[in-house]
Amino acid sequence: PFVVTENCIKCKYTDCVEVCPVDCFHAGPNFLVIDPDECIDCTLCEPECPANAIYPEDDVPAGQEHFIALNAELAKNWPVLTERKDPPDDAKDWDGKPNKLPLLQR
Ligand code: SF4
Ligand code: F3S
Repeated sequence: PFVVTENCIKCKYTDCVEVCPVDCFHAGPNFLVIDPDECIDCTLCEPECPANAIYPEDDVPAGQEHFIALNAELAKNWPVLTERKDPPDDAKDWDGKPNKLPLLQR
């Protein structure tokens, strides 16, 4: 499956959800995840993310491997999102900031 990684936190552009043919994106307060049991590896979402936060599981950036388990965990708790929403006003300011994991709201 594909995995949403750290740079989505506080950016949450949601362009990704519109293209997913199997509706496997789940949204929390400031981050999205992909349900690994639903993702069919179609690759469509990866180029849609303005923050480049989406990777195939086998290609997750070094140090972010824990996002694989985090996507699986949070997908069980959060509702499905299928339509784009306006990103936070300060999304651009957070794009590329390191160490955003402590800011993740559940
Ligand atoms: Fe959805 Fe395809 Fe992205 Fe998987 S790779 S989350 S199926 S758009
Ligand atoms: Fe997040 Fe990128 Fe989607 S910032 S909400 S993974 S478009």
